[in-house]
Amino acid sequence: MVTLKINERNKLSHIAPEIYGHFSEHLGRCIYEGIFVGEDSSIPNENGMRTDVVTALKALQVPLLRWPGGCFADEYHWQDGIGPKNTRKKMINTHWGGVVEDNSFGTHEFMELCRQLGCKTYVNGNVGSGTVREMSEWVEYMTFDGVSPMAQLRQENGHKDPWKVDYFGVGNENWGCGGNMRPEYYGNLYRQYQTYVRNYHPDRPVQKICCGPNVDDYEWTRILLDTTFTRCPKDQHGQMDLLSLHYYVVPHNWEHKGSATEFTPEEWYLTLHKALYMDELIRKHGQIMDEYDPEKAVGLSVDEWGAWYDVEPGTNPGFLYQQNSLRDALVAGITLNIFNKHSDRVRLACLAQMVNVLQSVILTEGEQMLLTPTYHVLHMYRYHQNAHLLESSLENVDFTGIDQIRVPKLTESVSVDDQGIITVTLANLSATEGETVRLQLAQQGYRVTEAKIVSGEAINSHNTFEAPETVTEAQLKVEGLEFDLPAASVVMLRLEK
Ligand code: AHR
Repeated sequence: MVTLKINERNKLSHIAPEIYGHFSEHLGRCIYEGIFVGEDSSIPNENGMRTDVVTALKALQVPLLRWPGGCFADEYHWQDGIGPKNTRKKMINTHWGGVVEDNSFGTHEFMELCRQLGCKTYVNGNVGSGTVREMSEWVEYMTFDGVSPMAQLRQENGHKDPWKVDYFGVGNENWGCGGNMRPEYYGNLYRQYQTYVRNYHPDRPVQKICCGPNVDDYEWTRILLDTTFTRCPKDQHGQMDLLSLHYYVVPHNWEHKGSATEFTPEEWYLTLHKALYMDELIRKHGQIMDEYDPEKAVGLSVDEWGAWYDVEPGTNPGFLYQQNSLRDALVAGITLNIFNKHSDRVRLACLAQMVNVLQSVILTEGEQMLLTPTYHVLHMYRYHQNAHLLESSLENVDFTGIDQIRVPKLTESVSVDDQGIITVTLANLSATEGETVRLQLAQQGYRVTEAKIVSGEAINSHNTFEAPETVTEAQLKVEGLEFDLPAASVVMLRLEK
């Protein structure tokens, strides 16, 4: 038996809702088909957005959406995506499948989507192939309400009032697809570009996100922070609010990643082992950030995370369409527990990507839609949003795995909301063995008011359009403060006095 000790008297960091954010790129069938079908589609929609998808996403309480990329962001010229649809420029999406991008989903459509979702907006600007002026004018177009050419253009295009841009990314992966830059060079460009990302509303400023490292590129973090913090007034913290980090769980390697649904128990553990690596990445990049920013004024924005497998057989390799199994539920449960535990530094994160691309919460096929195992984990974990992390630890947890690949059997995180309701989330990483768990709080009198579980008959159980509820949320049986956690499962419990 394992004991989960919770000290509900010790509130740690605030869990920013934005940690539960999403990412939607002009990639494959994410935006087009997955979210946006156009006003004239036979698929029910509101202003072009699929009603079924938006309804399902609202139940997740999506706090934030990042757009338009990704690699696409550094090729995107925002003026191509405004004005009457029949006059919008067409282009080839060279990064993703070589398909024609007709720009029918642009700034106005993104803002409309966020309005329907009731979420914050994270717009990613173009440094790789765009100009300072282009970036500056986009911000002016979206957020300025005075007299200016861009504010007037927005009004001519039918939107009188400015929108709220909550976060603005100054480039994406500028060490790679965003221009293949070196850290000093990007750092200097960041200083320049961000200067013209104007805050027209000091009461609700745009938070600026600087392009941080690829996985474990600690040299990028160090040199970039050195470049941005040098000769910058101390209280301006390198002129950034957040620094990004991108990390994908790839079971094998980029040439042969592995199948999303056909995998062995060894590959199960290999994948979960790689998901756990997120903890080390946050700690080590965080240590470097601490040297420049000991007050932790700058947050970490893990704005691309998730599992990346080989595409489903027969699909366009550039569309990154993959299935989603119980293993992905574990990747999500493990990763979100890590983010919660590091919520003093991690202030934003985006699962890649929202619909039909990589580790999606939703898959669509024509008018059909299904919720993936990952969806159900995010749904259970939604209670952590805006809560406070509590001190908690597991006692008597073994390691499990096969041969050299060892992982802790369980991971957890615990939070308390403003009403004093405690949320516990746990993941059992073992492919074969269950575990009995007992909750031990500092005070007496707590009882479980809600308990849910995501598990399956096999480690590769997944939902199909023929059987869409193979993996879903079920009731977890609890006796007092004790319960059995089956092999390969993620659970959520709510506790009240
Ligand atoms: O999410 C897919 C791609 O992965 C993004 O476009 C890019 O930023 C990353 O390399």
